[in-house]
Amino acid sequence: MRRELPQVAENEILRQQEIMRLVRAMEARPQSYFIVSMGCQMNERDSETIAGMLEEMGMVASPVREEADLILYNTCCVRENAENKALGNVIWLKELKKVKPELLICVGGCMPQEKGMAERMKQLYPFIDLIYGTHNLYRLPEYLHRVLKERTPVVEVEQIDGEVVEGLPEVRKSPFHAFVNIMYGCDNFCTYCIVPYVRGRERSRAPEAILEEALMLRDQGVQEITLLGQNVNSYRGGGAEFANLLYRLDRLGIPRIRFMTSHPKDLSDELIAAYGELRHLMPHLHLPVQAGSDEILRRMNRHYDKARYMDVVERLRKARPDIGLTTDIIVGFPGETLEQFEETMALVEAVRYDSAYTFIYSPRTGTAAAKMPDDTPASVKSERIQRLIALQQGVTSEILNGMVGGRQTVLVESVSARDERSVGGRTPRAIMVNFPGDESLIGQFVDVEITSAGRNTLRGKRIEE
Ligand code: SAH
Ligand code: SF4
Ligand code: F3S
Repeated sequence: MRRELPQVAENEILRQQEIMRLVRAMEARPQSYFIVSMGCQMNERDSETIAGMLEEMGMVASPVREEADLILYNTCCVRENAENKALGNVIWLKELKKVKPELLICVGGCMPQEKGMAERMKQLYPFIDLIYGTHNLYRLPEYLHRVLKERTPVVEVEQIDGEVVEGLPEVRKSPFHAFVNIMYGCDNFCTYCIVPYVRGRERSRAPEAILEEALMLRDQGVQEITLLGQNVNSYRGGGAEFANLLYRLDRLGIPRIRFMTSHPKDLSDELIAAYGELRHLMPHLHLPVQAGSDEILRRMNRHYDKARYMDVVERLRKARPDIGLTTDIIVGFPGETLEQFEETMALVEAVRYDSAYTFIYSPRTGTAAAKMPDDTPASVKSERIQRLIALQQGVTSEILNGMVGGRQTVLVESVSARDERSVGGRTPRAIMVNFPGDESLIGQFVDVEITSAGRNTLRGKRIEE
């Protein structure tokens, strides 16, 4: 079932804007902020909106977390370790608050949206000033205003499905790369996954709003956009399908277009064709497979089997021979046998991904898989994932080594963390290349000759014309 939910009424946004002005005028408000963004790109994008609202309220970004007057954690709960990381961080802030009592601690994002979690956090961590969820992010100004006026902790999590909110302020992280939301939520209910419970039902933005945003970004000099959604293939904005949206975006002339994430079950023929036709659509696709066994895929509620997945891969490569594929894989799903795991290994060998994100299954309360019997010992799961990582590492090395001697166009992103005389950026296939150069190249396209391959990245040198 797909629905386009009504937009949050314009006067609600006007009300929040009014509150932002009120907070700005308050004397005893925080002067600076620091946001810790955890989890996926959706959260990163939300953090840009949060930053926009905090700046409208008069705060400036603090370069150092400990020095900020307000610290906000935008949390993730997709796996248990993500949660533990968030909680560990928050507990540490309790100490900081002892020496800096005026510090405001806010926790938002997916974790408080979990059933019962916000109340638990409130009890266990009474020093948190504000706890809010994903659906009511746009009301952050109102909540902060209350915290500042009443000086008591505020906990606000709404259980209604989120709506599409337009017109909030934002502070974009990068001047040349931008994330653009095209849809929110997820209706797939893969049995292991908590995202549908914390992000609500699928809802698409209107194509006009997306195109308008992309146009504005292009005019600001953005060179690459990444369209975001939990499952972009089920985008249905104003009746338009995802491939149709891509064709329209391609005409704007932004040099690079990417998107994530794509669900294999409804990757359309039109999208495959788009890979052969669109100039600006980059030859990379993140196509999470999760497992190579049909039985496991069925119990994951993924709605495709290995044959269907391999067929999609084959057709994509036909349409775009240079396409690079990446994936997500879960090891140790409840009841996974050795044979079923070997099927995942065989699939990884057959597809030849550029790289893979591998996870040990983590039970999430409230999901269907959390109730399935799971008798595989943790040590066995850990051996399996090690084998999988080693296999993928071998494939990655072969692919990267095959690129040595070739030429790549790199969009430079940053100065290299390891060597300040080098810069790093991505090829069209999204593979990271480091090469000698300085900060002035950031945001530019540079032609590079690949000279060697590392574990997950390439090294090169600039081709001087
Ligand atoms: N919407 C995206 C991904 C969302 S979460 C998609 O459908 O592909 C990112 C990845 O986390 C998933 O692809 C999956 O591999 C992994 N993941 C999700 N829930 C998990 C769990 N309970 N345990 C381990 N990995 C999980
Ligand atoms: Fe989770 Fe599946 Fe939705 Fe992805 S498609 S967010 S894995 S439920
Ligand atoms: Fe995590 Fe929420 Fe994203 S649970 S993966 S931050 S949608």
